[in-house]
Amino acid sequence: MKRKVLSALLIAAMTAATVGCGGGQQAADTQAPAETEAPADDAAPADDTAADDAAPADNAASGELITVGYAQVGAESDWRTANTESFKSTFTEENGYKLIFDDAQQKQENQIKAIRSFIQQEVDYIVVAPVVETGWETVLEEAKEAGIPVILSDRMMDVSDDTLYEAWVGGNFVKEGETCGDWLAKYLEEQGRGEEEINMVTIQGTIGASAQVGRTEGMANKLAEHSNWKMLEMQSGEFTQAKGQEVMESFLKSYDDIDVVICENDNEAFGAIDAIKAAGKTCGPDGDIIVVSFDSVKAAFESMIAGDLNATFECNPLHGPRVAEIIQKLEAGETVDKIQYVDEAYFDTSMDLETILAERAY
Ligand code: AHR
Repeated sequence: MKRKVLSALLIAAMTAATVGCGGGQQAADTQAPAETEAPADDAAPADDTAADDAAPADNAASGELITVGYAQVGAESDWRTANTESFKSTFTEENGYKLIFDDAQQKQENQIKAIRSFIQQEVDYIVVAPVVETGWETVLEEAKEAGIPVILSDRMMDVSDDTLYEAWVGGNFVKEGETCGDWLAKYLEEQGRGEEEINMVTIQGTIGASAQVGRTEGMANKLAEHSNWKMLEMQSGEFTQAKGQEVMESFLKSYDDIDVVICENDNEAFGAIDAIKAAGKTCGPDGDIIVVSFDSVKAAFESMIAGDLNATFECNPLHGPRVAEIIQKLEAGETVDKIQYVDEAYFDTSMDLETILAERAY
């Protein structure tokens, strides 16, 4: 590590700056849910209010910046754009950081190259939002050998040795999928369709990404509880709008009796909605096809208000302040929780969406 020792003064200042801040989970909890939101297990939708708490204002004053290399997945979705913005606005020189940002364009090999380049540049911390879960051992061992702590954000890595990373902060993807399944069961019941045979298709995310693996698993758990639900087909839309549209077009050609499309992110849903309309069908609460998705970005609220999307299950992207808080604790020699889930809610067309949207951070 280039910057091994911080002055006692700096450590004291940073410790003071983090007093009152818990882990990522607690930071998320500081946000009260809007009254109109339906709670997912009473979860408050987290936003970036933790940013100010986590910002180590005194790092910059010491003249010694903490260098952070962030290996980002890409720019495939509105969620990802918000996530990038969260890191860029948190890891600023004013806050005492130098951020080296790398966009891997959804390719694991690019992320591995970026991590190796961060090691060569002797950064102080490496943060990775891994494209997929597997295949990371070798490069993480290289980082460990170089003495550079690694923090995982958003998606998980499946590694046999969990000392290869310091901490992970992100959403509970299985729970998101299960919340979606529970919502659907309740919605169908309310529509008087609880016993009807329901045909579904899923536009999955990038295969092997935690967000895909978890959401597919969560929904599968709920499918197992409903013998009248039938999953016709699942295909990857790679978390993009263009691919979501393409996959939906092919589903509509193969099946003329789709009741529900589960899109593993909002952008795929926007593409699916375009495909549904182009095929002369309708969607949303008054339409032929129920459309649900994950993330809860602003455009998803607009789509629900327009009557196209039925519901969106939150995945909070504002991880910059949470990762900064982890770094501050490590700098102060404190231990950090290894796994830090953020709280997430859901939103549907029964809510006062205009009011929620007006206050939405992403
Ligand atoms: O890993 C989080 C997922 O990645 C988000 O749901 C999606 O929009 C992004 O591409």
